[in-house]
Amino acid sequence: MKLAIITGASAGIGQSSAKTFLSENYTVFNLSRRPCPVAGVHNITCDLSSPSDIDAACDTLLETIKTASCVALVHNACQMRKDSTTACDSNSLREVLETNLIAVNSLNQKLLPHLPDTSSVLYIGSTLSEKAVPGSLSYVISKHALLGMMRASCQDLMGSGIHTALICPGFTNTEMLQTHLGNNDEVTRAIASMNSYNRLVEPEEIARFILWAHCNPVINGAVLHANLGQKES
Ligand SMILES: NC(=O)c1ccc[n+]([C@@H]2O[C@H](COP(=O)([O-])OP(=O)(O)OC[C@H]3O[C@@H](n4cnc5c(N)ncnc54)[C@H](OP(=O)(O)O)[C@@H]3O)[C@@H](O)[C@H]2O)c1
Repeated sequence: MKLAIITGASAGIGQSSAKTFLSENYTVFNLSRRPCPVAGVHNITCDLSSPSDIDAACDTLLETIKTASCVALVHNACQMRKDSTTACDSNSLREVLETNLIAVNSLNQKLLPHLPDTSSVLYIGSTLSEKAVPGSLSYVISKHALLGMMRASCQDLMGSGIHTALICPGFTNTEMLQTHLGNNDEVTRAIASMNSYNRLVEPEEIARFILWAHCNPVINGAVLHANLGQKES
């Protein structure tokens, strides 16, 4: 049995990924607060900022992993807040890091020792894993940190038969982006014009790329941008 474990598959890129892996006959588990609406996905209600929720989720997942021939572990869930170097309360930063970073580590610590070879650990980063923009301090910090975690994973998993990569979507047409842009059509059009194709990336395009990354261990340790070619600003 081929298994995909996806955090944050209730919406956006995670939801599309769930659909894509299902279509390739994977058993798919979603970890998020809301359920994934895609029929056939196994939902584990999990607030990734809660260590006890993560422990309970891992108990269920470890039972299933025992019967899996390969696992795609996709760290996709994320909190995105508007904050900055001069306006980011440390409690708020701690909350964001809890979901975007600490939860990723907790899942890795509990699940990685049990993954069969030919598995993958795929981190969903961002263009903001390698650059910064104003007004997104906690997001930029957490996405840069994921890059470091991916590279460390690559080194620590040498010889295990498990590969890893950081997938960095560009502006993708999801709830997170639309909320961040204030659900404003004009702003969305301006953002869409910042790449070579004058449109947003569709979540399905990232989902297919995630599946491809899982199936191709040659990319082990890579930072993979998927953004339609962004204009340099
Ligand atoms: N959209 C873009 O333009 C873009 C660009 C670059 C990178 N990305 C990255 O792509 C990934 C997916 O983003 P998206 O745009 O698809 O976002 P989205 O549509 O807003 O989905 C975010 C997902 O994260 C989950 N999540 C958030 N907080 C959670 C928590 N505390 N516990 C459990 N699940 C939680 C949400 O589930 P619940 O609310 O149900 O818990 C939801 O399923 C993120 O890592 C994001 O940084 C997106």
